[in-house]
Amino acid sequence: MELHEYLQKAADIVDKELFRNYGSVFGDLDKASAHLLLAGGKRLRPAVVLLAADAVRKGSAMDILPAALALEVTHTFTLIHDDIMDGDSVRRGVPTVHTQWNEATAILAGDVLYAQAFELIAKSMAPEGARVRAMMLLARTCVDICRGQHLDITFAERNNVSAMEYLDMVAKKTGALYAAAAAIGGILAGGTAGQVKALHDWGMNSGMAFQIQDDIIDLCADAEKSGKDRASDLREGKQTLIAIRAREKGVDLAPYRRHDLSGDEIDAAIRLLEGAGVIDEVRAVADERVATAKKALQNLPESEEREYLSRITDYFVTRGF
Ligand code: IPE
Ligand code: IPE
Ligand code: MG
Ligand code: MG
Ligand code: MG
Repeated sequence: MELHEYLQKAADIVDKELFRNYGSVFGDLDKASAHLLLAGGKRLRPAVVLLAADAVRKGSAMDILPAALALEVTHTFTLIHDDIMDGDSVRRGVPTVHTQWNEATAILAGDVLYAQAFELIAKSMAPEGARVRAMMLLARTCVDICRGQHLDITFAERNNVSAMEYLDMVAKKTGALYAAAAAIGGILAGGTAGQVKALHDWGMNSGMAFQIQDDIIDLCADAEKSGKDRASDLREGKQTLIAIRAREKGVDLAPYRRHDLSGDEIDAAIRLLEGAGVIDEVRAVADERVATAKKALQNLPESEEREYLSRITDYFVTRGF
């Protein structure tokens, strides 16, 4: 099976379960929680949970399906809150929760999902000790995401953020959840400490590459394709690696830090950045993470699932166009 077929199959299984759990909820707050969950999305984190479980113990993925949902529910909670922080109005091709409802409802809708994620992990079919370890990892991961998101926001008010600081920020805001997805799959399937560490390292490095690509998509892909507001990072003055390398090369992005940017102005910014070699350099940094991620996989037994994880890493840095 090709990777995209595997991912489609995993997404279909996850979608079906999400509709079963969230498709007929009552009340305004629960509807707000379900809104983005049911609007689609690539479902990559749950796919990683399932693949990691099968990579460690073939046939275990379906026992831990609730944990796969838990990762998607956690991810969606972070998206609802992220859209408030970033002031974005479209996500997964639909209005963001705070736009369709209001900020207070969006904060609460995210909080509901945040709590439900832990309940879902507890419902997986795995030994109690493994479930406790998985819940502890998810709890720590949520703290990391908050720390990463806080850095993301505070960096936008500085003009001297380094590439190292950026990498630390994306490790926390995005790498940590992919690391947790892979490690939780491994923990619940009964993996050894070495296997769980390999999965965690793979997820961390792949997740960082994923975020670098997300930053490129934010600037360079159409909103139609991404389902999100275009050039949000540019308008908000986010200190992405693109912005950091631009500054180092003397490319001034300050004139583009405006909410009323036109499509032509965004295209002009892209030309400026491409001309200075910024985009190619940023892609090269993502490629370094891809190589490190793949190396970590060598500590897992050879399997079809290990091969899919390796191919997912490549997909992370080519997707979106
Ligand atoms: C978006 O994640 C948030 C980031 C970490 C960049 P995805 O690109 O996986 O979003 P969905 O789940 O497919 O909507
Ligand atoms: C957010 O990064 C990552 C999260 C922890 C939600 P972004 O702010 O770049 O995500 P998008 O582009 O809005 O999906
Ligand atoms: Mg955002
Ligand atoms: Mg953000
Ligand atoms: Mg983004």
